[in-house]
Amino acid sequence: MTAESGFEIFLATVPGLEEVLCAEVRGKGFRQPRAVPGGVVLRGGWPEVWRANLWVRGAGRVLARLDAFHVTHLAQLDARARRVAWGSVLRPDVPVRVEASCSGSRIYHSGAAAERVAKAIHATLGAPVVEEGGVLVRVRIERDLCTISIDTSGEPLHKRGYKEAINPAPMRETMASLFLQQCGFDGTEPLLDPMCGSGTFVIEAAEIAARLNPGRARHFAFERLATFDAEAWARMRAVKSGREPVAQCHGSDRDAGAVEMSRANAERAGVTGFTEFRQATISEIEPFGGSSGLVVINPPYGSRIGERQALLPLYRAMGQVLRSRFVGWRVGLVATEPKLAHATGLPFLPPGPPVPHGGLRVTLYRTAALPPE
Ligand SMILES: C[S@@+](CC[C@H](N)C(=O)[O-])C[C@H]1O[C@@H](n2cnc3c(N)ncnc32)[C@H](O)[C@@H]1O
Repeated sequence: MTAESGFEIFLATVPGLEEVLCAEVRGKGFRQPRAVPGGVVLRGGWPEVWRANLWVRGAGRVLARLDAFHVTHLAQLDARARRVAWGSVLRPDVPVRVEASCSGSRIYHSGAAAERVAKAIHATLGAPVVEEGGVLVRVRIERDLCTISIDTSGEPLHKRGYKEAINPAPMRETMASLFLQQCGFDGTEPLLDPMCGSGTFVIEAAEIAARLNPGRARHFAFERLATFDAEAWARMRAVKSGREPVAQCHGSDRDAGAVEMSRANAERAGVTGFTEFRQATISEIEPFGGSSGLVVINPPYGSRIGERQALLPLYRAMGQVLRSRFVGWRVGLVATEPKLAHATGLPFLPPGPPVPHGGLRVTLYRTAALPPE
């Protein structure tokens, strides 16, 4: 695993958003990314790993492939794992945690596989093995092919490092950014989220508008690897990518606490200059900014059938407000129930696949520019 020859880098996302992530990765200048189930694969060295963590908004984590080999029984895994070049990437003084998964393979006990690999790391490198925390080593045995990867991100990448305040049903930043991208948002038009909750969409949009790196305010697991070069990383982080945004990003919510939360999160993210939050119900919203833009909404879902029924009037009212006042704007609606989405009466384009989100499956419903009624 040398930077010269390059190795496989995997950027994980939820099933259904791989192509969207791939488009982002390609757009950010990474060479020949390929969408595969569960993520995007590309080849590169450690600078590409650091850059992917620092730049890419949609990835949940970035894994670096360390080794791959065929294996059919545990004793063989035990022996082969001792020949992995652990010391080329891991440090003897940094604790590691091993997680394994097995599918369609003769080795089917993931706990036993993880234990063998953990023992091999400890025996050959001396690194302490822990149950929680530490650098994560991922072992995946699929059809008798064992791949060993290092999680270079650490804390999942949706944790941008600015969000202390969250409401009960926050959208993950990574997913919000991919939905914005699917809506064609490039940061040059006004954006409104009229049910902003903790402000996720508005803050992501403002960062896109200002070209701020999503990973600028946090640490990563790769800083604790043997391959880390603190000076090169400092130089990479110091490159100023920002621009003065041309458009404003606004959020509103009927709940005063949510508005407070959004303001606090925006301040920590350093985007107060080009975001605005106010308390308002959906029936009070108005277009702003002098040109049409994007309305993105993640309304309450209603997890039980009775609750869903009760939400119909809210979705109808929302549709009415958008169709009558937001002519020329596009809408992106994140919903779990087709019936609720269609109650808005909005002219949706064919939706993408439902994607898993916090135990639910959510779908992004998009419109083109809304026509006059
Ligand atoms: C699912 S949450 C949105 C979560 C948000 N995307 C985030 O990442 O934090 C739905 C939000 O809609 C707001 N809401 C519900 N009914 C509303 C209404 N009639 N007008 C405005 N906001 C409303 C709630 O207060 C809640 O914050």
